[in-house]
Parts: sequence; structure tokens; C-alpha cells
Amino acid sequence: MRNLTEENLTEVVLARLNSEDDRTNEIVSKLIKHLHAFIRDLEPTEKEWAYAIDFLTRTGHTSSDTRQEFILLSDVLGVSMLVDAINHRHGGQTTETTVTGPFHAKARHYEMGANIATGEEASRGEPTVVHGKILDENQRPVAGAVIDVWQSDDIGAYDIQDKNQPEMNLRGIFTTQEDGSFWFRTIKPAPYPVPTDGPVGELLNATGRHPMRPAHIHFWIEADGYEPLITHLFVEGDEYLDSDAVFGVKESLILDFKQNENPGDAKKWQVTGPFYDVQHDFVLAQKKTLS
Ligand code: BEZ
Ligand code: FE
Repeated sequence: MRNLTEENLTEVVLARLNSEDDRTNEIVSKLIKHLHAFIRDLEPTEKEWAYAIDFLTRTGHTSSDTRQEFILLSDVLGVSMLVDAINHRHGGQTTETTVTGPFHAKARHYEMGANIATGEEASRGEPTVVHGKILDENQRPVAGAVIDVWQSDDIGAYDIQDKNQPEMNLRGIFTTQEDGSFWFRTIKPAPYPVPTDGPVGELLNATGRHPMRPAHIHFWIEADGYEPLITHLFVEGDEYLDSDAVFGVKESLILDFKQNENPGDAKKWQVTGPFYDVQHDFVLAQKKTLS
């Protein structure tokens, strides 16, 4: 077919799709339909389209083993949270999910109770103890659940962004005990800006948006027979809870970081002096069986 027009081009492109896999045809045809509809609606100039191509090219070039600018782009456009919402419609009693973000990385396995703050911030930051249980939907403990945690330091930087932090700082992997319990020591995380020195920063700036995320600790919890749970715990009172740059906040994940000045509790949790006492139980969803 030749001499295609503005009117028939979309149909002709769609008719060319011929995968043996139905899902592939569905994905690519919907992509073409929505992309063509976007272009028809927007009517970009050639200069604007060249800018868009350059923006995506730079997004790729900005990505590396330790930086994922495409995930960040998906996050700030609200796409990551939309994918998350569609894939976790179970609702009910299970812990709510939120974005993974670009800062998950290799971590050490620790004994229960270890302090994941291994750099200068361990003496500078505010001591925090996080403890609770991993439960199933019937409130029964899940033993042997693997909890991968990661967070920023007290000035809002992750180890993989900051050469001054030791490797695998403020991240760690713990395995729950027979009663489903876990605990670890850390410092209180700080709010921080998503990386703004790349194309995503340019987009935020051009659209008059701030780049801040409210302070939080990430959790990725896995156990045999359960769906993986990727979530955060946020700090109550943070000024960015209502304007998170990546739209990831859920009320049920906001926790009171309670100041605990009880010397007996400090001794029990192996900290010196007052500390933030953070208690939370996570509830896992049973693994979906394929029908
Ligand atoms: C994070 O919480 O680590 C994060 C999530 C999305 C974008 C940037 C950072
Ligand atoms: Fe984070």
C-alpha cells in the first residue's frame, strides 16, 4: 500500500501486526492506537517531536547500572503507581503496596537486630528501632519471610548516590523468626529530592513541580506461598506527604515515629538514649494460583 494519508495511516500500521502471540499483538496495537491518538490530538511541530526523541535518548544515556532514569520517568508521571494499583487490587486486610523506585540494590544478610547504619550517619543520625511481625491474612505469623530494607541517610542520600557512604549502607536483609517477628536498628530517614540532574529533573522544572519525596523506609518482603510485597513506611508529620513527587503515599503506610525515652526499652533494643520506636506488622497476600 502506498500514498498513505493522515486519515488511513493508523489502520494501515495496525493491519501490519502479525505476531503469533496474542498478547504481543494486543500490546503493540494499543501502543500504536494511543500514540497516534496522542499525536493527532497534540499536532506537534517537527521541532517538538525532535525534542521528544532527544529527551528519551538522553533518558537512556542517563541510565546505568546504578541509575535508572526510565523508572524515574515512569514514577514522576504517575505511571508506576498506576501499574502498581492495577496489579494489587486485592484490597482487604493485606499491607498496601507502593513504588519500588530506582534505589534498590544488593544488600548484606544480617542477624536480627543488626544496625543497618554503617557510615558516619550512625553517630550523626537519630537512632531508630523498627520492629513488628510478618503475618498472613488470618493474622498468623509467617516464619522465614525474607525482608529486604533500604533507605536514605539523615540528609536524604542513598549509598549508591553518595561516594562518602560505605557500600551497602542503610540497606539489609533479615529473615523472620518462628513467631514472624523481625527487628532492626537504623537512623530516621530524611525527605529527599528524586535525582534532578537528568532529563526527569528538566521535566519537573519545566512543569513547575518540586522533586521531593517524604521520608520513608523501603521494604521488599518475600515468603514461600505469598505474593511479594513491595512497600514503604512513611514518617508521620513529613511536610511532603501530600505532594510526593512520585505519588506513592498511602495513609495506611504513614507511621508515628514515636520518641521512646524509656531506658529499659533502650536496653532491650540495644540502643543508647532516646530513640524513635517504630512498630508495624505487615500482612502478606496468599500467592495467586494460576487457573
Ligand atoms: C525512592 O523512594 O527511592 C524513589 C522512588 C521513586 C523515584 C525516586 C526515588
Ligand atoms: Fe526511597
